[in-house]
Parts: sequence; structure tokens; C-alpha cells
Amino acid sequence: MSVVEDGHKILSNIIATQIDSHQRFGGVVPEVASRHHIEQITRCLDEALDQANVTYDDLKAVAITYGPGLVGSLLVGVSAAKAVAWAHHLPLVPVNHMAGHIYAARFVNEFVFPQMALLVSGGHTEIVYMKDEYSFEILGETRDDAAGEAYDKIGRVLGVSYPAGKTIDEWAHAGHDTFHFPRAMEKDHNYDFSFSGLKSAFINTFHNAEQRGETLDRNDLAASFQQSVVDVLVEKTLKALQQYPVKQLILAGGVAANQGLRERLEADVTRQFPTVTLIKAPLKLCGDNAAMIGAAGEVAYRKGQRADMSLNAMPGLSF
Ligand code: KG4
Ligand code: ZN
Repeated sequence: MSVVEDGHKILSNIIATQIDSHQRFGGVVPEVASRHHIEQITRCLDEALDQANVTYDDLKAVAITYGPGLVGSLLVGVSAAKAVAWAHHLPLVPVNHMAGHIYAARFVNEFVFPQMALLVSGGHTEIVYMKDEYSFEILGETRDDAAGEAYDKIGRVLGVSYPAGKTIDEWAHAGHDTFHFPRAMEKDHNYDFSFSGLKSAFINTFHNAEQRGETLDRNDLAASFQQSVVDVLVEKTLKALQQYPVKQLILAGGVAANQGLRERLEADVTRQFPTVTLIKAPLKLCGDNAAMIGAAGEVAYRKGQRADMSLNAMPGLSF
């Protein structure tokens, strides 16, 4: 829950982390996640208003994510937002979760169009073209696992608790790409991704060594995995930049917090596309948060987008 002023200034941004319970169950259990949402939502609402030092009377609109995501969790948010909007006579603004990830970058820089976004999270891996404000065209996406999902799955094999991305990223910095895992679809003439082959190659390498009684260096394993992910993400994004000239490139989503990806994209874009400005979502706003929904919601509000009390959660929502 977050209070955002004019779409640009974060007055509060309360994140109710569920990581403890995810760790207990080894991942996100949808039923547990939605129950958590119910338990936390009113406390978060109060805290967000308190911290921003505002009351409901000061608000201009309520922005809410209605998809994509887990239906139970989305429903809790949608129901709460409807209740607030109805009780306080506020407009209800529906926001796509992935649009929210993109607009997290607007806290860093004003947006100039046309623009492209590399969106990498636990559920999505997409290259999105934005011809104009709040217009989204998916140029390519993953055909199987999302990048973050692959991190979490190999993390489980390595004994890293969920979510594993940050730890694998840290280990990768201390290792070298000695295993040369596959880079799926890297040379294909499209902007799609596939990470399940890489995940399987990683798991096979790990288990084969285990059967031989060998212990592989975890830093080298992490570095090899990460190098493969980063190579494909960056290569495809650069290819897209060649075909679609843009002024800005946004890097956003949970995996955008990855240091290896941030550094490599920065270096390659600066060298090969000096006229393109790379805007990386702030580290604190890469993972799911409400301020990014506020930022996107402000634009959607200006565009006249409104929902009524029939708004429903749409778990499979696309752009
Ligand atoms: O955007 P997000 O918070 O949730 C979704 O909408 O999916 O992304 C969470 C994902 C998790 O899979 C997590 O492991 C990954 O982001 N992640 C990272 C890093 N930090 C978080 N992946 C790689 N490197 C990181 N530093
Ligand atoms: Zn997300």
C-alpha cells in the first residue's frame, strides 16, 4: 500500500513481506498468500496513510492491480480498493501489474517516447515496446519459465530458500562461467525467450556430479547460470533496439535488481546505442510494491481509465 503524489513523489510505500511463510513452504502457496493478504491489508492501509500523513479525504483516486497474478491475492486487493473507493467516493483506477513494473522507472526519470522495456520478474519475461504514454506492445516473451522462476528453481537445488535470485546473484559475482550452459533461442529471429532448458541443464550437471561424489563450486555454478541468463536477455534486447529505434530503455521487474544484468545492460547499451538512455528501476522498487502501481495509476487516471464496482481480478491479464 502506497501513497504517491502526482505520480512522482512517494509519500509512503508499505510492503507486507510474506517471505517467511514462503520459505517455510519452499515457494509461494497461493492459498497461504491470499490468506496473508487478508490478514495484512487493513494494517497496511492504515500504515500507508499514517506514514504519508494524509487521510482518505486527501486522496484523489485509488489505483489497484487487477492482474496478472494469483487470483486469490488479486481479489483481496481489488475488494479492498473497491471498498475504499466506494466509501470515500473516490475514482477507482485499474492498473496492469506489469505496467506498474515499468512505471517504477519513472521515479528515476521522466519518460520520453518511443520507449522499450525489458521486463523480468518471477512470472514474466518480456520485451515491451511503448510507442506512446501508456501504450504497450509485447515484442517477445518467454515460452516457458520466467527468468525469476528459473533462478528460484535452481536455487532450490542449491538449497537456497525462496526467493533465490539475490543470493545466486551474490554467489555469481564470486565465480566464473566454467560450465557454459546453453543460451536458448539466442540467435533466433524473434524476441522470445526460453529458460527451462537452461534450468534442466543446470540441474543435470548438479545431480550428475553429486552421483559421482563430486561437489561443484557453487559460485561457478551460479556465475555460469547467471551468465547464460544475462547473455540471452541482453542480446535479445539489443536486437530489439536495432529494429525499433527508441529514446529510452527501461529495465524493470524483480530480476532487474540483478547486479550482473544491470551492469552488463548498462555497458552494452552505452557502447552500442549511445543515444538511448537506460533507466533502471530503483533497486527498492524492482520487486513487487504499491508505489509503482501509484505511478502507473496516475497516468491511467489522466487517460481517463476508470473501473466500477464490477471490477474483477484477471489472473491471466496481458497488456
Ligand atoms: O517482480 P517480482 O517481485 O514478482 C513477480 O511479479 O514475479 O519478482 C520476483 C522475482 C523472484 O523470482 C526473485 O528470485 C527474483 O525476482 N529476484 C532476482 C533478484 N532479486 C529478486 N533475480 C535475480 N537476481 C536478483 N538480484
Ligand atoms: Zn511483479
